[in-house]
Amino acid sequence: MFEQICYHTPVEHIRTRMPDTATLYFSPKALRDEAERFQRGFGGLVTYAVKANAAPEVLENLVAAGLRAFDVASPEEAGQARAAAASAVLHYNNPVRSLAEVAAGKALQVRSWSVDDLGELAKLGAARQGEEVAVRFKLSISGAHYDFGEKFGAEPDAAVALLRAAEAKGYEAALSFHPGTQCQDAQAWAAYIRASAQIAQQAGVCLKRLNVGGGFASQRGCARQDLESVFALIERETAQAFGPDAPELVCEPGRAMVAESFSLAARVKAVRADGSLFLNDGIYGALAEWRDMSASTRVRFLGADGAERSGALTPRRAFGPTCDSLDVLPEPLACPADISEGDYVLFDGMGAYSLAIATRFNGYGPREVITVKRAAFGEN
Ligand SMILES: Cc1ncc(COP(=O)(O)O)c(C=O)c1O
Repeated sequence: MFEQICYHTPVEHIRTRMPDTATLYFSPKALRDEAERFQRGFGGLVTYAVKANAAPEVLENLVAAGLRAFDVASPEEAGQARAAAASAVLHYNNPVRSLAEVAAGKALQVRSWSVDDLGELAKLGAARQGEEVAVRFKLSISGAHYDFGEKFGAEPDAAVALLRAAEAKGYEAALSFHPGTQCQDAQAWAAYIRASAQIAQQAGVCLKRLNVGGGFASQRGCARQDLESVFALIERETAQAFGPDAPELVCEPGRAMVAESFSLAARVKAVRADGSLFLNDGIYGALAEWRDMSASTRVRFLGADGAERSGALTPRRAFGPTCDSLDVLPEPLACPADISEGDYVLFDGMGAYSLAIATRFNGYGPREVITVKRAAFGEN
């Protein structure tokens, strides 16, 4: 799927090839820059949440940038991480697993398991030397795009009991939380870190590690998150809450790690008399997340010659290519008045939960990923 021929920019590819199927553009340089930013700035172990984008090219570039640890949610993802780095450290952080999945994870030498229920702890069986259980807990706080606590995470009281039980079983005891994806309020991390210290204290367990999750925000319907100040706050709060016995920190970004390194070009298949557009990608393709997340404003409109359209912006309904009438962007797209059939809509910041979720429904979905040299998108 990933084309080896390298273009400088998406616009250069559009101008020369005029793709008629939805196309993703991947900048390895942008991905490595982001990986280095996390590793330079975060005061602990940086792992990557494979679910955000499991393409081999993504995993290999992260390994090339120095990442060695991966948050995986299934044996399949564990295998993908292993294929990218034979010595990859695996954290299996989907807290609900079948016995067969536990066995597969054990065979792949999973190093850390997140757990939010005693039944799931029982399924893990006896601990091996150095194996960790990270008890995942939840708080009812806002700040993220939607509530991750609806599905996973023990209440703090249950987390106390789980932490004791994990330690009694011989596992290295850790805590983990996820403030929710696209979390723009850094105070969510502060609240979780303070609660972590209380849970550990009540359990009488000296935490080896604290996993502060993913959730770091990408530039999507908001300004770029100042990651360095979020990292500083995490370190400060950990030191204050735990004192001299502060646990080692772990983070597991998905979205913020990979978002910037991809753009998506969808072509305008038709412009109707009422102004609505039909694009060759939509909510069953790489724009799947638009149903659940705010619309991105990082959109450019190009003629087939690659020149940017400059007409006044007006909102238009934007349908996807499938025959399903639900296949429409949830909010109108502000488009230039001169947008025409055969034009391109270029969406930047599209690396996370795009390729990973896109279906082939009705024979659509992005088919090609073109590698580009440009380090940052949003420019020609
Ligand atoms: C356990 C866990 N870690 C990390 C992530 C990545 O989150 P994000 O992409 O918001 O950084 C997720 C997302 O679902 C998750 O469930």
